[in-house]
Amino acid sequence: MADAVSKTDEFEGRVAFVTGAASGIGRAASRLFAARGARVVLADLEREAGEAVAEEIRSTGAEAVFVETDVADGAAVARAVATATERFGRLDCAYNNAGLSGPPNFVADMPEDQWRRTIDVMLTGVFLCMKNEIPAILESGGGAIVNCASGAGLIGFPGQSAYVASKHGVIGLTRAAALEYGSQGIQINSICPGTARTGMVEDVVRETPELQQELELLHPIGRIAEPEEIAEAALWLCTERASFVLGTALSVDGGYVAQ
Ligand SMILES: NC(=O)c1ccc[n+]([C@@H]2O[C@H](COP(=O)([O-])OP(=O)(O)OC[C@H]3O[C@@H](n4cnc5c(N)ncnc54)[C@H](O)[C@@H]3O)[C@@H](O)[C@H]2O)c1
Repeated sequence: MADAVSKTDEFEGRVAFVTGAASGIGRAASRLFAARGARVVLADLEREAGEAVAEEIRSTGAEAVFVETDVADGAAVARAVATATERFGRLDCAYNNAGLSGPPNFVADMPEDQWRRTIDVMLTGVFLCMKNEIPAILESGGGAIVNCASGAGLIGFPGQSAYVASKHGVIGLTRAAALEYGSQGIQINSICPGTARTGMVEDVVRETPELQQELELLHPIGRIAEPEEIAEAALWLCTERASFVLGTALSVDGGYVAQ
């Protein structure tokens, strides 16, 4: 299993931007980027939790700054991405990860505002992030963007139409952007996590404890992921070691969609 604190200097001199950085997979990715030498800009809606992660990273001697951001708000995203160049002088890597889950509803019963907010945050949010990140990364001479999709970007789940549609959209958006900027030195890819032990999942399991075992059985590997195992894949896609990977939707799911 991934070691959350394994340190290298692989990202020394580079600047990383992470959305949804206050918890779960985004927090794990922010910690890993910092542990491997990057200066990190953390963006999230949750100020207190986001500031706490940035402070924790700074206490290790690394550099990190938190920016309160709603990724569905274009002006807020522009300000957050500009923080990378204003504070640290450049932008090299971005992990667009912010996301939310909503109550299950079949299409005919899905409230319009639930549909719109889900698409706004998880699909338009990724578009707004890339729109601002791409010029900054080009200015730095190239780099990498990883968008967080899901197994729900590859297959359907009843009751989750907005989530499923947004994640399918993230994969398509990623492919188009990869074709547009791959030859200019930006590696753009998406990852498709299976179930990971984050706030999103812990909330559901707290309400329905028997779901824990059900979730484990759904993954051929026999367990759910730790957030660091998903973050590791996102970081790998930002390294030179992934230099020929472009426009892919990388499953990191313990075999879930291989079944
Ligand atoms: N946990 C899983 O099992 C799982 C599986 C597949 C995909 N994912 C995806 O992984 C990503 C991270 O999820 P997680 O499991 O770490 O959940 P999480 O709830 O722990 O973290 C999500 C973070 O996104 C932030 N956020 C929500 N809306 C935002 C907005 N509008 N602007 C900025 N930040 C916002 C939240 O405040 C939170 O800190 C999401 O895109 C999610 O869809 C998670």
